[in-house]
Amino acid sequence: MSHDATRATTADEPTDDQPTPKHVLDVDDLSDEDLAAVLSTAAEFKRAHYAGESHAVLPDRTLAMLFEKPSTRTRVSFETGMTQLGGHAVFLGPENTHLDRGEPVSDTARVLSRYVDAVMARVFDHDALESMAAHASVPVINGLSDDAHPCQTLADLFTIYERFGGFEDVTAAWVGDGNNVAQSFAVGCAMAGIDLSIATPEGYEPDDAVLARAAARGTAPEVGNDPAAAVEDADVVYTDVWVSMGEEDERAAKLDDFEGFQVNDDLLAGPDDPIAMHCLPAHRGEEITDAVLESDRAVVWDQAENRMHTQKALLAHLLGAR
Ligand code: CP
Ligand code: NVA
Repeated sequence: MSHDATRATTADEPTDDQPTPKHVLDVDDLSDEDLAAVLSTAAEFKRAHYAGESHAVLPDRTLAMLFEKPSTRTRVSFETGMTQLGGHAVFLGPENTHLDRGEPVSDTARVLSRYVDAVMARVFDHDALESMAAHASVPVINGLSDDAHPCQTLADLFTIYERFGGFEDVTAAWVGDGNNVAQSFAVGCAMAGIDLSIATPEGYEPDDAVLARAAARGTAPEVGNDPAAAVEDADVVYTDVWVSMGEEDERAAKLDDFEGFQVNDDLLAGPDDPIAMHCLPAHRGEEITDAVLESDRAVVWDQAENRMHTQKALLAHLLGAR
């Protein structure tokens, strides 16, 4: 639709020829330089946060947060993060929009773009994010889809960097389901130069297309079906739930399929004394034991906290404040 020629225009008003905004539907939508900048800004914001120094670099900016699925960490870390940056976040759960009543994602994206400065969305179908990004005139950030969880990967890479002082010579293992969190982690590890070995039950490996994207940004992970082989020499062992959101009907079958893939003291008993990572929520006694989660090797609370610092950095980066 053309704009009303009689209406005064401003530089911020949407036009048909404005540049495409930068969207982050997976971690490799960031260049290596973007990734380095986001991690560096996250360190800056984390330090400022603990020093009690204002870093309100996004005053008057608003983030819309669309959720088709539940969330504890993603919602609270983005919302609190926007407050700390001097902006505001609007929570839109499944009941709060017309999406469930048939308003297309594309229309929703166009309308939200007229109000807010960025959209974060958690969806089932990754295609919904692609459609949102195609129609939004503000940045769209993936807050988890069935295929990818790039915001989790940013926090995970930041946590690994904090623990090891860099990525060089860090070896990681993924044990468990090869879906969203694993897929983004695989691409993120390739971008960071972290050697990754993945062990999933047969049939649960990451998609070949994702492995190809990892290879395009560094070295593709080794993928197999043997947890003990994957964790050999690992400095980092990462797992995720066996039954993801939306898979509740597959629970019984998946519990059978994932037998032998639990991250427990026996699996981590090797000489390299790996740290244990989990995106949370954890299903204690399934993919990871209480003992591992409560041990000194677990860095899961740091991962959860670092969601906030890295997402603040991502928002500042995408909105031109860093
Ligand atoms: N890790 C993660 O995304 O947690 P939530 O589902 O609580 O947001
Ligand atoms: N794989 C999990 C990750 C939760 C953060 C899920 O999709 O439910």
